[in-house]
Amino acid sequence: MEKFVVHGPCRLTGEVKISGAKNSAVAILPATLLVKGKCHLENVPNISDIRSYIEILESLGSKFEYISPNEFIIDNTNVNSAIASYELTSKFRASYYLLGALLGRFNEVQISLPGGCNLGARPIDQHIKAFEKLGATVEVKNGNVYAKKKDALKGAHIFLDVVSVGATMNAILAATLAEGTTIIENVAKEPHVVDLANFLNSLGANIKGAGTDTIKITGVKELKQVSCYSIIPDQIETGTFMVAAAATKGDVTITNCIPKHMEPITAKFREAGIEVYENGSSIRVKMDKRPNSFSIKTSPYPGFPTDMQPQMCILLAIANGTGIIVENIWESRFQYTDELVKMGADISAHGTTAIVKGVDKLYGSPVQSHDLRAGAAMIIAGLVCEGVTEVYNTHHILRGYENIVEKFNSLGANIEYVKDDTEGLAK
Ligand code: EPZ
Repeated sequence: MEKFVVHGPCRLTGEVKISGAKNSAVAILPATLLVKGKCHLENVPNISDIRSYIEILESLGSKFEYISPNEFIIDNTNVNSAIASYELTSKFRASYYLLGALLGRFNEVQISLPGGCNLGARPIDQHIKAFEKLGATVEVKNGNVYAKKKDALKGAHIFLDVVSVGATMNAILAATLAEGTTIIENVAKEPHVVDLANFLNSLGANIKGAGTDTIKITGVKELKQVSCYSIIPDQIETGTFMVAAAATKGDVTITNCIPKHMEPITAKFREAGIEVYENGSSIRVKMDKRPNSFSIKTSPYPGFPTDMQPQMCILLAIANGTGIIVENIWESRFQYTDELVKMGADISAHGTTAIVKGVDKLYGSPVQSHDLRAGAAMIIAGLVCEGVTEVYNTHHILRGYENIVEKFNSLGANIEYVKDDTEGLAK
């Protein structure tokens, strides 16, 4: 059984470099399928979700030439299959981007229903609606999604019922090579949506309005890359290190990040009395006392990101006073609070709301990582608390954080990654 063993408490100090954004890379990798040739990408995070994506693309016929683990050239000239294996695509959520990308290039596509973190119901009805508006027929059967088009997809007016990152990006992927103009309204405005549009535009696509409520795509006949594309830094990894710095009463400079993307988090930090200094592409976080309590309500960008909710809960767990978290995106994103209670936190979570009464100290305990961000929160809790914390289900964390142990240890943490077949399950 694999686990992270975190020896607490510690005070994080020094400098840490942020990796490329997972949620950009998982869309940009399949987007390269729209090019019948080569694409050169850099700042790609070396995480297990990306390695899974690479495996899927290789199974379809893509060839990879590595310059480093974070930079490679993908050659999609000989991709001749649009049937992705159930075993590979069912592993993670973002495999749904294969639908939009492959539908742009082929007439028939098949992938399994996407897997991923257990955050409650994760429908893809808005993705399907977008494909159907563009003229495709889509069928969900036996755990698979089948999408077909007779001729080229045709530009359409698509109004999304809910603001969905995945449906917005999938609609962009499918509409890029469609005939005519597509207007997508009520879209997601996350930094990774803008990154995907910038990447496709750098190949010759005509996508306007990414980052606003309406996106207009004028279909083009083909795409071609002229220069290497660098994926943006990861907003959530940046926020995770910001929280870890503040929670351990540390002083950390986070480099290779985009401070503008961090505004909803920075605003809460200042409310909590945490010092935050922005300087070009770096952010310094400094703290020397318990934070003031605060409240958050998650919402689509530029609102407070749901993917930072569990990490912020650690700050509230050790804050002076009581804070409230309202989770508006995912119905089951408070499962991790039971783990924090084991560590001495005072949290009561019901439905979409968690009430967190700050305590003086947390104590080491064996804990489960329920999902990617909850897992990161467990590591931060381990850094803060007295004693040893064992974090199980490490695979969730490794899906989305590159070199997480090395990065934390370089800041003064003491975390070991232990693979021990004789260990029992954490209770
Ligand atoms: C993306 O998931 C991210 N994943 C998630 O990050 C993130 O939590 C989420 O966006 C919200 O920011 C990737 O980018 C790979 P949505 P996605 O479609 O696209 C509802 C992480 O930790 N909805 O924006 O799947 C849905 O139920 C992960 O990195 C529909 O009703 O999220 C949810 O309530 C976890 N129908 C809301 O919309 C649909 O067809 C937002 O979901 C699609 C979504």
